[in-house]
Amino acid sequence: IDELPNPYFGKVRDCYDLPDDRRILISSDRISAFDRILTAIPFKGQVLTQTARFWFDNTADICPNHVLEYPDPNVVIGKRLTILPVEIVVRGYLAGSTGTSVLTLYKKGARQMYGHSFPDGLRDNEALPHAIITPTSKEFDGGHDAPLTETEIVEQGLLTQAQWDQISDIALRLFARGQEMAAKNGLILVDTKYEFGTDADGNILLADEIHTPDSSRFWLADGYQAALENGTRPPSFDKDVIRSWVDARCDPYKDNIPEIPADLIAA
Ligand code: C5P
Repeated sequence: IDELPNPYFGKVRDCYDLPDDRRILISSDRISAFDRILTAIPFKGQVLTQTARFWFDNTADICPNHVLEYPDPNVVIGKRLTILPVEIVVRGYLAGSTGTSVLTLYKKGARQMYGHSFPDGLRDNEALPHAIITPTSKEFDGGHDAPLTETEIVEQGLLTQAQWDQISDIALRLFARGQEMAAKNGLILVDTKYEFGTDADGNILLADEIHTPDSSRFWLADGYQAALENGTRPPSFDKDVIRSWVDARCDPYKDNIPEIPADLIAA
């Protein structure tokens, strides 16, 4: 497999090209946070792939996706796409982990962000009046993602205006579907990230993964209200569990978290 063309070794997935414009995406058991691989969790790659499969199947009426087949529990064969260079983050709550998240900026006094007005008096983790998109650049190979506005996206030629209009409409509809289905099962879909690509004919397809605990925040609905009132993190099923663990022990962006030994991160 190491001789397949166009390899890309992400923090979590290893990807290669296959003949006939296909790509193989293998989800490892690695987990990353703060831009680093931190450890490996047995069967995480399968859980990730099968969670994404559930959501791809349940959103194909909103947007076609890259999946062609699932030959193994942790493997996707997808259409080879040109990935669009913007990460489409959708948020329904005032939450976030990074220095540029809406929560951090709001606490610093920002009331206008990404073309939306935020009312005064929102508490940490409170629902926003409606879902918003907070796009970022897509930094390959180690860089951090940087926030972008719609104007910057179009002026920098990252997307055409027509692509932005189509993608932002799709992203909000995917998120609404995700929130609705999660709510029926006692979960809150808090925020998530979508990636899109274009095929040879220029059609826009949903790529990567969808509504997994790696790319989304999920809170338990039961316990959310109490957490909101106490100012604590709601019970969560996502990478915030790991982020909090790291945060309690060091400043993740200052200290140098050691890389995990190679034998632990083998797929
Ligand atoms: O950390 P932040 O609040 O900006 O993340 C917003 C949402 O986007 C979260 O659900 C997070 O899991 C997801 N995200 C991601 N990949 C990134 C950045 C954010 O999946 N590179």
